[in-house]
Amino acid sequence: MKPPRPNRLRDTWAGTTRPDRVGERLRVAGWVHRRRDHGGLIFIDLRDRTGLLQLVFRPEEAPEAHAAAEALRPEHVISAGGELVRRAEGTINPNLPTGEVELNVAAVEQLADAETPPFAVDDDAAVDEVLRLRYRYLDLRREHMREAFELRHRVVQAIHRQLDERGFLELETPMLTRSTPEGARDFLVPSRMQPGDWYALPQSPQLFKQLFMIAGFERYYQVVRCFRDEDLRADRQPEFTQLDMELSFVDEEDVIELCDELLRELLAAGGVELELPLDRITYDEAMLRYGTDRPDRRPGMEIADLGAAFASSEFRVFAGALGGGGVVRGFRVPAGTGELPRRRLDELTEQARGLGAKGLVWAVVEEDGGWRSPVAKFLSEDEMSAAARALEAGPGDTLLIVADAAPVAARVLGELRLAVAPPPIGHDLLWVVDFPMFEWNDDERRWDALHHPFTAPVAPGVGLDTTAADLDSDPGAWRSRAYDVVMDGLEIGGGSIRINRPEVQRKVFDALGLPAEEAEARFGFLLDALRYGAPPHGGIAFGLDRLCALLAGRDSIREVIAFPKTASGADPLTGAPAPVDARQLRELGVRAAGGAPATPSP
Ligand code: AMO
Ligand code: AMP
Repeated sequence: MKPPRPNRLRDTWAGTTRPDRVGERLRVAGWVHRRRDHGGLIFIDLRDRTGLLQLVFRPEEAPEAHAAAEALRPEHVISAGGELVRRAEGTINPNLPTGEVELNVAAVEQLADAETPPFAVDDDAAVDEVLRLRYRYLDLRREHMREAFELRHRVVQAIHRQLDERGFLELETPMLTRSTPEGARDFLVPSRMQPGDWYALPQSPQLFKQLFMIAGFERYYQVVRCFRDEDLRADRQPEFTQLDMELSFVDEEDVIELCDELLRELLAAGGVELELPLDRITYDEAMLRYGTDRPDRRPGMEIADLGAAFASSEFRVFAGALGGGGVVRGFRVPAGTGELPRRRLDELTEQARGLGAKGLVWAVVEEDGGWRSPVAKFLSEDEMSAAARALEAGPGDTLLIVADAAPVAARVLGELRLAVAPPPIGHDLLWVVDFPMFEWNDDERRWDALHHPFTAPVAPGVGLDTTAADLDSDPGAWRSRAYDVVMDGLEIGGGSIRINRPEVQRKVFDALGLPAEEAEARFGFLLDALRYGAPPHGGIAFGLDRLCALLAGRDSIREVIAFPKTASGADPLTGAPAPVDARQLRELGVRAAGGAPATPSP
């Protein structure tokens, strides 16, 4: 970082002063971080964006400055000049980068007053989040917040550097557009000029980036805001940022290899070293071994199928599941992985029920290979030893087993596995590939796209050359050319090779039960474009907030978004969302229905 242009307020950064400048007259500006009065001497830690520098006010050397310092309080804004001196032996602070020096202040100027902040800025103590968001500008002054945003900045800079080198064009796409197909609810914006019509804010630039490929731009990227009106969670915000990319004339391998390298650079910007290539596992394998399509492999404790072990079991629960086309699966909690006393096992059983299982079998393997378990009496020795073998279990290990339809068993065991896992160490990144094209939506009795409807399908036994004619088969058997990147159990990116032929796109809309007229009305512009020579293309979008939160070691993406919303979608700082004038609504041709009426205009 270059020094600031010297002016009347400062000529140097506080946090970058080092002993090589001892003897120089310097001026720094910033906030009073902490003030200590040592009866006579006053010490102030001055804070600017680069860090802290200790200022010393000596009553005998600079009585005026010392008197002024007596009135200074935390968060006052000051400019101070004086000589940089080496700290006396014994007063060096090894925890501070500037800890070997201090500024002997000759003159200080107070530039702004500050009220007492509603929470301390000089430490990272826990503060109620709504209060933090209400006073976000104070919260952002805190060191761990500044660090998070510096990290985010470095990641974004690395994106621009890496993708520029590889020939990507950074291109913008509209924010006022039509509904896009990521499957969430849209945020809508009424049109004043066409009363009754609405724009939608983009859930992603998906269709526009495909149009860039059809336009021949070959390689596109954008760090772009996306909007989705979903229920919010720690890893979900209504507006969030994607690193969005698209490439022409590529297969999965090209995108994945590029992303491997890109991820290595981005993680390096966050101080994490990545070994390439990242592992890949198929969707089916992920569901079987981890019970989820976004596995966290760090805890180990893989789920295994116990169907063979219990194939001829007379235990009603296992026999019933296997006889009814279901599965018996379980995993092993190694001896010594935290405590699983009876009470905890009962809680896990309750949790399993809450997740939709009919129950949970638990068993502790004893020295002689027998099981201490409520259901031991229903099981033969052979069954127990076969199951223990399948789970690679030994004495002292606890086994957790669910018998149910495969999706239920996967979901329940996947959750229980994370519930009993000790706090993980390090990071785990992998690709999940070979997804089904659709999942069955039982409520609506139709197929839903697992990724989005523009993802290229693969008909069984055909592979990458799937044509429209191959898609007269059962959509439930189609796979897709989609891929996800998962980091620490969170989906940080997802993409696919796209459909580039209109007749294939038609088939997918048909399979989704989207009538031709509706497809035409919503996506006609894309169908048109596909008729004018669309190259094979594909891409991906990374959730930048999620990636940065994981790199910064934060448990919510709100920690790496400067001005996020609360779980109810509110912004305690600005008060958004808020009522609007009746006049504004009239201009827009919109009438507020129910709820709070619009405020009358003055
Ligand atoms: P997808 O919907 O998987 O793909 O989104 C890409 C990535 O964005 C992140 N993400 C979110 N982050 C925070 N809050 C949210 N509400 C939120 N929703 C998604 C996730 C996710 O992996 N157009 C496709 C990409 C493509 O096919 O190229 C898309 O948007 O980390
Ligand atoms: P029940 O006879 O229903 O009380 O079940 C006997 C034992 O099997 C209890 O410990 C239940 O928690 C367990 N159990 C019941 N159904 C299942 C299931 N589908 N999968 C695993 N365990 C089950």
